Amino acid sequence: MPSSRRVLVVGNGGREHAIAWKLARDGAEVLIAPGNAGTALVGENIPVAATDIAGLLEVARRREVDLTVVGPEAPLVAGIVDAFVDAGLRIFGPTKRAAQIEGSKSFCKQIMHRGDVPTAMFREFRSAARAREYLEAREDVPVVVKADGLAAGKGVFVCSDRAAALEAVRTLAEDPQFAAAAGSILIEERLDGVEVSVLAITDGRTIVTLPPLQDHKAAHDDDEGPNTGGMGAYCPTPFVDDALLADIEARILVPTVHAMRRAKVPFQGVLYAGLMLTAQGPKVLEFNARFGDPECEPLLLRMESSLLELLDATVDRTLESCAPPTWQEGAAVSVVMASEGYPGAVTKGQPIRGLEAASAIPHAQVFHAATRAVDGTICADGGRVLAVTAMGPSLARAKLQAYSAVKEIRWAGAWCRKDISDKGLRRERELLASMATEEAPAS
Ligand code: AMP
Ligand code: GLY
Repeated sequence: MPSSRRVLVVGNGGREHAIAWKLARDGAEVLIAPGNAGTALVGENIPVAATDIAGLLEVARRREVDLTVVGPEAPLVAGIVDAFVDAGLRIFGPTKRAAQIEGSKSFCKQIMHRGDVPTAMFREFRSAARAREYLEAREDVPVVVKADGLAAGKGVFVCSDRAAALEAVRTLAEDPQFAAAAGSILIEERLDGVEVSVLAITDGRTIVTLPPLQDHKAAHDDDEGPNTGGMGAYCPTPFVDDALLADIEARILVPTVHAMRRAKVPFQGVLYAGLMLTAQGPKVLEFNARFGDPECEPLLLRMESSLLELLDATVDRTLESCAPPTWQEGAAVSVVMASEGYPGAVTKGQPIRGLEAASAIPHAQVFHAATRAVDGTICADGGRVLAVTAMGPSLARAKLQAYSAVKEIRWAGAWCRKDISDKGLRRERELLASMATEEAPAS
C-alpha cells in the first residue's frame, strides 16, 4: 500500500486507538476525530466530535481523506454513512437503516425472524401497561426486559422473577434517561450459558468471520457487580472451536446478512454477534453494527494481514476476491484500567504514570480509551481509561504479559479486573482433561 493513503478514524476510545494504530502499521496516514492522547501518537487528532456529521464531512473533503472508518454506533445510527455516500466519499460502516440492527432491538428481531436465526423468544409491547399485563398473566419465570432503542448498554434488565421484571418495566417507563429508547419494550426469555462475541466483516454479500472473542461485561472479578461497557476481552476464546465457528457462520451470520439484503437493507461493515452458547446451541443476544470495545483491541493486535486492504475491499464490495485475513499464532488479552467510581460518575484529570515502562513489556500495547494530554502529561479523562493489551504464544502467556504491563501503570484511583481471560483458561484445562480421559488406554 502506498503511504499516501489518508484515512479518517471517527471516535475517541480504545477501539479507535487500535484501529488507528493498525491502519498506521498498514501504511496509512491516519487522522482521528476527535481521538485521545493515545491516538495522537499514531496520527493526527482533529477536534471534531464523532457525532458532528457535517464537521466530519468537511474534514474529509478538506483533507482529501480517501477512506473514513467509523468506530462507535451513535454516528452510524445517526446516518453518517448515508451523508458520506451522498457526498461521493468512501466510508466503512452500515447505512442508517442497516445500523438499525443495533439501534432497534425490534428491527433486529424482525431480521432474525426472516432469516430463521436462533434467538430468545420475545414479545414486544408499545406501552408499559401492556407489558405489565403480560407479565402478570404469564407464569413467573426469569425474563429479560429491554428498551427497544440505544441506551448506552443500560436498557437491558436480566430479571430472575416477575417482581424484578415489573420493576424493570417501571424503570423504563419512568426514568427520563430511557425516554428516547423505551418507545417500545421487549420481554424476552432468559437464556442460560456462556456468552461469546463473534464478529464478521461483510460487504453485504461476502462474509469474513473473525476469530471468536469473550468480553467481560461485569465490573468486578467473577462477573460480580454492575454491567459496564466491557472490562476486558481475549481472543480467540476456546469456547468456540472451528466446528462451532463454522456453525455460527452458517446458521447466524450468513442468514442475517442475506435477510438484510432481501429486506433491501444491505449491511456493509462489521456485524458483531453477541451470542449465548445454550444447551440448544448458539443463540443471538444482540447484534452490533461495529467493532466491539474492548473486543477490537486484542483482535487487531493479533491481526497480521492488512486491515486497510480488508476495509477497502468491503467499501468497494470486492471482499469475495480479497485474501482472507491472517492472525498471529497464540492469543491476545486486553485488560481495561478504569477510574475510581466507574461505571458510575468518575473524577478526571489524574496524571498517569508508567505508560512507557508498560509499553516496553514485550508484546504489549497500551491502547488509550479516555486520556488527554495536559501540558505534556497524559491524564485520565473518563471511566474506561486504558485497554492494556498483550499477545502471547498461549492464552496464559498473553494474560501474564498484559498484567505485567498493567502493573507498571498507576494513577490515583486506578483499578482493573484481575481475572480477564480466566474463564478461557479454565475451559482450556477442562478440554485438556477430557482429552486425557478419552485417550487413556482402557485398563
Ligand atoms: P444486549 O444489549 O441485548 O446484548 O444485553 C446486554 C447483556 O444482557 C448481554 O450481554 C447479556 O449478558 C444480557 N442478556 C441480554 N439478553 C439476554 C437473554 N435473553 N438472556 C440472558 N441474558 C441476556
Ligand atoms: N464490549 C461490548 C460492546 O462493544 O458492545
